[in-house]
Amino acid sequence: KKKIQIGLLGLGTVGTGVYKVIGRRGEEMEPQVGARLEIKRILVHNMKKERHGIDQRLLTDQWEDIVKDKDIDIIIEVMGGMEPAKSMILEALAAGKHVVSANKDLIAEHGEELLEAAQKSGTDFLFEAAVAGGIPIIRPLKQCLAGNEIDEVIGIVNGTTNFILTKMFEEGMDFQEALDMATELGYAEADPTADVEGLDAGRKVAIMASAAFRSRVVFSDVYTEGITKITAKDVAYAKEFDSLIKLLGVARNTAQGIEVGVYPMIIDRNHPLAAVRDSFNAVFVHGDAVGDTMFYGRGAGEMPTASAVVGDVIDIARNMQYHCSGRIGCGCYRTLKLKDFGE
Ligand code: NDP
Ligand code: HSE
Repeated sequence: KKKIQIGLLGLGTVGTGVYKVIGRRGEEMEPQVGARLEIKRILVHNMKKERHGIDQRLLTDQWEDIVKDKDIDIIIEVMGGMEPAKSMILEALAAGKHVVSANKDLIAEHGEELLEAAQKSGTDFLFEAAVAGGIPIIRPLKQCLAGNEIDEVIGIVNGTTNFILTKMFEEGMDFQEALDMATELGYAEADPTADVEGLDAGRKVAIMASAAFRSRVVFSDVYTEGITKITAKDVAYAKEFDSLIKLLGVARNTAQGIEVGVYPMIIDRNHPLAAVRDSFNAVFVHGDAVGDTMFYGRGAGEMPTASAVVGDVIDIARNMQYHCSGRIGCGCYRTLKLKDFGE
């Protein structure tokens, strides 16, 4: 194929980032992908909304325009919510289209059903962006660390709450003011209750635990506690002990069973997680062969999340072109001129 055409569902924070990355780098990525990636249609809710820098001809509010289009091979779902996202993904998979999604709410609840639907139709369903934004964590857990017995995955997996706590500790900012800033920066969910009550982190913990322990862990299995009860007094108390408060997501595979939870913890200022500031996330993984590993990066926002989404799209596109899923030795490389040292 010369061109791989994409249907984009949603043009909010993440959708706009995806549109920009594919627009800017589509041509440059051609040798790497083996075809030109092109966004053919974009599904939105409100056709009247002003959208700068977007080709208006691509917009539609009719799902049929996308799912019935035989030229569209890949669907990117970045609308959020349970429905109509779930029905659309199932319909797209049944129609033989590959799907990439960032929708952790849906995946934490119905991930297994969606993966089974993809398997049944011989398509791919990938969701790297659903956990920790731009940080690669799903693929490492499922593939790179697959030779391990993983017993612990622990970290900061919500950018909004980490941003709020950073502002409260470092600038004495009030909770609501910091939340408003996180919303403005595109980190928070459409309903930020999911962030501040630990639900968003809980969904990510369920997804990571399922991938790491090769088990079915759903959101309702996860104990969740958020940061809404943290006051200026708690901040002062933690500071007195040279410590910080962080919202941690914890998944452990113990002899007694799988333990999954999200809760605020007081941690020493010298702890590695204390250095994870603003909207950054970090995930520690312990495996029996590898020992400790740590993944760090931007956990939310337009471009970091788009980075993960487009990575999945490229993986699928390479698989379509070369049947190699981007793995080394499949001839997807550009020829680069090597520069001698000291030149
Ligand atoms: P936004 O609320 O910014 O954007 C949602 C988009 O989806 C909008 O363009 C909206 O259309 C469209 N949409 C919503 N419902 C419908 C519908 N029924 N039919 C057609 N279009 C619809 O969300 P985000 O971009 O922030 O998030 C998208 C997904 O990515 C969510 O699942 C979120 O959890 C996930 N995610 C978000 C991250 C972030 O940092 N923001 C990071 C990682 C994952 P319209 O523009 O017309 O209103
Ligand atoms: N609202 C989420 C966060 C977006 O703040 O982490 C990234 O999943």
